Amino acid sequence: MAKFSVKRIRKPIIIAPSLLGADYGNLNEYLKKFEPFCDWFHVDVMDGNFVPNFTLGPVVVAGIKTKRPLDCHLMINSPHLYIEAFAKAGAASITIHVEASKHVMADIEKIKKTGCRAGLTLNPETPVEKISKFLPHLDMVLVMSVRPGFGGQKFMPQVLKKVRWLRQHYPNLDIEIDGGIDGKTALLAVKAGANILVAGSYILKNKNPRKAVEKLRAAGKTNLQTKACP
Ligand code: DX5
Ligand code: ZN
Repeated sequence: MAKFSVKRIRKPIIIAPSLLGADYGNLNEYLKKFEPFCDWFHVDVMDGNFVPNFTLGPVVVAGIKTKRPLDCHLMINSPHLYIEAFAKAGAASITIHVEASKHVMADIEKIKKTGCRAGLTLNPETPVEKISKFLPHLDMVLVMSVRPGFGGQKFMPQVLKKVRWLRQHYPNLDIEIDGGIDGKTALLAVKAGANILVAGSYILKNKNPRKAVEKLRAAGKTNLQTKACP
């Protein structure tokens, strides 16, 4: 019988609060509260076109003062027009939607040329096959676990099979999960292989955001893989 040992995945767990539930009138003061116990800030950019909601553009991103990396999730059409502007505004990573881009590979290259980390997003209904040829060129894949556009929606567990497939085939890829993440769903996502947890309502609307983040980190500690030993 094969012996099994348990090995931790080397990918660190990253907790990234989404700014979607933030106080936009007082963003910097607001973010200061979360900065000490969070890793990245997830900036949801919406154009009222690709998704039925508006948020903010590069001018507002440029005004964000934080020590944490800004993870810009562009839910916008024709992202190539704005990649450089977001990079100049201070983005550390830029993730676009495969359905929103006419020239996906060129956009990935454009992101990388700015020095930002490049990501592609899978909507809940988008199959992994749609991005498979781009996977070797990506720093990360964002798996949407709700329909893009609004915070506070219910987690869709059916997307986890895509996370599992990605982790199995790309052990070193950063896999981000976004939408409906809380203490319980974080556990499912991490077990499936996600290592970047975006959470909006669960952290920002929590009376004790530090505790909420601790719960997400605790889910991250279950980040174990079983490996058959020879
Ligand atoms: C939805 C956004 C998410 C959202 C997450 O389009 O991409 O980042 O803000 O919010 P919660 O955690 O409330 O689902
Ligand atoms: Zn997002």
